[in-house]
Amino acid sequence: MFAVPRFPFRCRRSWASRLCIGLLALAGVAAGAADKPGELNVLHWWTSASERAAADLVAARMAENGLKWVDGAVAGGGGAAAVKVLNERILRRMAPKVAQLIGQSMNGWADMGLLLNLDDVAARRHWAKVMFPTVMAQLRANGHIVAAPLGVHRINNLYVNTALLRRHRIVAPADWDGLLRSAAQLRAAGVVPVAFSDEPWQVATVFEALLLGEAGPALYRRMLVQHDPKAFEDPALERALLRLRAWRQLAQPLAPGAVPNAERPWTDAVADFAQGRAAFFIMGDWARGELGTLALEGGRDFECRAVPGTAGMHLYSIDTLAMLTLSDGSRADQEKMAELLGTATLQLGYNRIKGSVPVRRDVPVDELDPCAQASFALFASPATPRVPSFVHRMAVSEVGKSAIVETVHQFALNPNQTPAAAQRRLQGLLRAIGPRAGAAASSSP
Ligand code: BGC
Repeated sequence: MFAVPRFPFRCRRSWASRLCIGLLALAGVAAGAADKPGELNVLHWWTSASERAAADLVAARMAENGLKWVDGAVAGGGGAAAVKVLNERILRRMAPKVAQLIGQSMNGWADMGLLLNLDDVAARRHWAKVMFPTVMAQLRANGHIVAAPLGVHRINNLYVNTALLRRHRIVAPADWDGLLRSAAQLRAAGVVPVAFSDEPWQVATVFEALLLGEAGPALYRRMLVQHDPKAFEDPALERALLRLRAWRQLAQPLAPGAVPNAERPWTDAVADFAQGRAAFFIMGDWARGELGTLALEGGRDFECRAVPGTAGMHLYSIDTLAMLTLSDGSRADQEKMAELLGTATLQLGYNRIKGSVPVRRDVPVDELDPCAQASFALFASPATPRVPSFVHRMAVSEVGKSAIVETVHQFALNPNQTPAAAQRRLQGLLRAIGPRAGAAASSSP
């Protein structure tokens, strides 16, 4: 997962793992930050207004239960910076007690024995019974529960600024053709159609939703879950790459000589959309959390739809907090926090703000907004094709995901690169990463 200077190997599940974990412990690699009993230092990347409010709600519930959330926020949407800070802190023997670690990025730490085994918490709280199987699958590493879940995000959302369309008498589009027609009308009326940022993870987040639309769930899984090299030769990948470029083009400013797209925080793109500077926005539903929290003009006059071609599909990312194993007797506090995160009341309160949906089947969601209700119903239905987000680490490890994101980003920004070249690069990358253990074509998780 990363280079450990003094111990350049990974701990395995074999006889060597005990030795390995022992060495790490001796070296004090996981000797945590010096919090007092009851205090839990939480490293995370929730820094937008809605993310902050959702984290604050968790902190308040913890306080009611005698625990103190000591904030360790690292700015940077998508979490690339936070994950680097986490690596650095562990190596410098300043590991936080709790960290936002999601999906495949947990595996390396779990292999090293650095994540607290939460099997007992899960059993006490009947997680296997109340939580969605796809959620449970994302909490496990090496067969053990190593994280507590917070919420399920849907990525394949198209937000439509209905107020802006009404003002220009444009009928809200239903498919790609309609979208492109209304985009042309908007441009003619002097409005930039699409909100977009060139930040690599945002470009790739748009891409994975487009890819799902062009490829469908089975081919998407062959590429990003099974890493089947043949799948990257499919023309659907070329179509998705070209759509990405065309979509980005629709975000270019209209005035000649104006500064083109830049690597802006996702909250800036949300603000463009909410304040009517753009009519369409493709983003994970943390953007909906932000639209709901900010008192931005027009912020509530929007619709959310599935990205064309992905209706009825759920491209998911599941937020989780892992507890780092420390030698200072904080296990009881960590377990208490994990239990709290999974409770129905916390699930409802947190997800209502965050834009995600509860990880439990038994939480009544009728109080959530219609977009959240639709996401929940889809995620809950056994008939729904659920596919893991690669950008948000559900399908690929941290390092593999960064390489794919970089490749997609380079293609989007470099008009001289052919789709065939990008396809070959992606194929080579996924071949080099190798097949993912236990990845089945048909299974949703
Ligand atoms: C996380 C979300 C977060 C988003 C933007 C995603 O990877 O899962 O919780 O809101 O990044 O930072």
